[in-house]
Amino acid sequence: MTDPEIHKGLAGVVVDTTTISSVNPQTNSLLYRGYPVQELAAQCSFEEVAWLLWHGELPTAEELEVFEKLERGLRRLDDRTRRALDDIPASAHPMDALRTAVSQLGGLDPTLEQENGILDPELNLGRAVYLFAQLPTIVAYIQRRRRGLDVLEPRDDLDYARNFLWLTFGEVPDDVVVDAFRVSLVLYAEHSFNASTFTARVIASTLSDVYSAVTGAIGALKGPLHGGANEAVMHAFDEIGSADRAEAWLDDALAQKSKIMGFGHRVYKNGDSRVPTMRASLEGLVEHYDRQDMLDLYDALENAMGERKNIKPNLDYPSGPAYNLMGFDTETFTPLFAAARVTGWTAHVFEQYAANSLIRPLSQYTGPAERHLTR
Ligand code: SDX
Repeated sequence: MTDPEIHKGLAGVVVDTTTISSVNPQTNSLLYRGYPVQELAAQCSFEEVAWLLWHGELPTAEELEVFEKLERGLRRLDDRTRRALDDIPASAHPMDALRTAVSQLGGLDPTLEQENGILDPELNLGRAVYLFAQLPTIVAYIQRRRRGLDVLEPRDDLDYARNFLWLTFGEVPDDVVVDAFRVSLVLYAEHSFNASTFTARVIASTLSDVYSAVTGAIGALKGPLHGGANEAVMHAFDEIGSADRAEAWLDDALAQKSKIMGFGHRVYKNGDSRVPTMRASLEGLVEHYDRQDMLDLYDALENAMGERKNIKPNLDYPSGPAYNLMGFDTETFTPLFAAARVTGWTAHVFEQYAANSLIRPLSQYTGPAERHLTR
């Protein structure tokens, strides 16, 4: 019998179909329900993109009005969620705090226990909107608690992006900052079967609930090979310090066989389609905050990496310095990614429920041949 072909990391393996997004390395493009992500980032609110991912079409004006009103009314934290967050040491990584907070939200949802409560499409859409509305309040709560600041209450007079920034910083910044933040959320929202989304699909494929799927996805996203890379990019920038030290730092890192965070991608091999859009937002922030030094360092490291490894940046590379300039703590960067990606995760969970097929691949056994106890 010939050995089966092993596909480590499922690299290049197509395991199912999806109608949610199309990642095209050949054309270096990304479509959300058929729309180029660049057009959505330029013309749509994050609320509209969330609706598109869940429903397959952009909302009408009436649908958007109803959705915005619903979302704004779901932003406040339940006291039990506050207590759960307060019980976590402020020194804990924000992704651990976020994962815990989302997990306990499942325990607060009595409708899970009703008949068909886990799979009911209407209940699940309501849960997706609830998670969409809650994550900014949770992420901001965690950052302010780590900084020893009073937590703030959500403002229902502000749109999603402005409320997120208000909750985090206690003010609404200039439009150039708000727009860069909104663009980052749109770009981070969805990316087909990436590791955290596929984790969510595996959990949903067992017919477990959406809170469990999102909790698992947060765990996967935390890893530096995936969502944790945007935080790691900023740590690298802090370590390098200035553009003139980028080459030496990179040579040292490569000599130690380190993976350079923010570079490379399992699917895009000629550059991540989202990078030019996020870099343009970064340039706007650099001008706004008069931080040309940040862009000089960004370019120096990218050029050095291109010369040495010919590996191009992924979305985490421009988003890290962008979030730094916006004022977010570095450890808050990946929770921002999670708050955006919860839209894609939940859309995929619902698609997996509809597919109704358990995800269970095979493995090839290479351990000891059969043997028996001789006690
Ligand atoms: C995200 O999947 C998605 O869509 C994810 C994401 C999304 O929106 O959900 O796009 C978000 O996770 C982006 C990726 C963020 N991660 C990082 O920036 C971490 C650093 N990147 C690498 O770890 C790596 O590029 C991966 C994990 C992202 C992809 O790696 P692959 O496709 O598995 O390729 P590989 O690790 O097998 O590398 C192939 C070669 C190797 O060299 P050799 O051992 O063959 O000599 O390229 C080298 C690697 O060492 N390489 C790198 C590198 N990336 C690849 N070398 C140094 N630094 C890197 N970043």
